[in-house]
Amino acid sequence: MEVVIVPDAEAGGELIAEAMAQLLRHKPDALLGVATGSTPLPIYEALAAKVSAGAVDVSRARIAQLDEYVGLPTDHPESYRSVLRREVLEPLGLDMAAFMGPDGAAADVQAACAAYDKALAEAGGVDLQLLGIGTDGHIGFNEPCSSLASRTRIKTLTEQTRVDNARFFEGDIEQVPHHVITQGIGTILEARHLVLLATGEGKADAVAATVEGPVAAVCPASALQLHPHATVVVDEAAASKL
Ligand code: GLP
Repeated sequence: MEVVIVPDAEAGGELIAEAMAQLLRHKPDALLGVATGSTPLPIYEALAAKVSAGAVDVSRARIAQLDEYVGLPTDHPESYRSVLRREVLEPLGLDMAAFMGPDGAAADVQAACAAYDKALAEAGGVDLQLLGIGTDGHIGFNEPCSSLASRTRIKTLTEQTRVDNARFFEGDIEQVPHHVITQGIGTILEARHLVLLATGEGKADAVAATVEGPVAAVCPASALQLHPHATVVVDEAAASKL
C-alpha cells in the first residue's frame, strides 16, 4: 500500500485527477469506478478543469458506480445515480451511455446485484476505483464486519452512517434509506488500481486503522492492504493519527 500525505483536500484532488488523466491518456476507454460523498468532489473538479483546458480527453471514458440506496426512485436527487450524473458525468461532458450502475429501484434487488457484478466483469473490470471512507472505516457501503470476500449485495446501513448521510436529506435521518446496494469488498479488490482519498480530522481514526491496523472485517478499508496496487491519499488532518 502506498500512502501519500498531501497538504489539503485540493492537493489530493489534483494528484488523483492527474492519475486518472494519465490512465485515460494511455487507455482512453478506461473504466473508472467513482464514489459519492463530499470527499471526492475536489477530484472531479480537478479532472473537469483538465478536460476544459484540453489536457485530457475523457470522451471515451466509462464510469462505474460503487454503491446505491435501495428504494429511492432512480431520478430522486439523492440517488447516487443522480448524484454521479450531476457531480461527475455532466461536468465531464459525458452522457448516461457512459455509465453503469446497479438498479436500486429493481423489484428483485438480489438479481440486480448479481447482474451488476457480471456487467462489471464483462466490461473488462474496473481500471481505477476511487474510494472514500466512512468514519467507521466503511468503503462503498460495506459496513464494519462485512466479509472481506463479499460480492455486490444488499446491506443494512448502521445508525452512524445514516446520521453521517442525513445532511444530504435535509438533515432528517428518517429520510435516509435503511438499505443499500454496494459493490462487495471482494468486488472492489478486483479493480486494477484502488485510490482512497480521506480528508479531515474526522477520518483520522479510520485512516489509522486502514493503514496501520490489522486486516480485519471490523475496518473494511483495511482490505486495501491485500491489494497489489492501492494508493491512500490523505491530508495532514486525516493523517494525524498515523
Ligand atoms: C457514503 C458513501 C461512501 C463514502 C462515504 C464517506 O457512505 N457510500 O462511498 O466514502 O459516504 O463520505 P464523505 O466523503 O462525504 O465523508
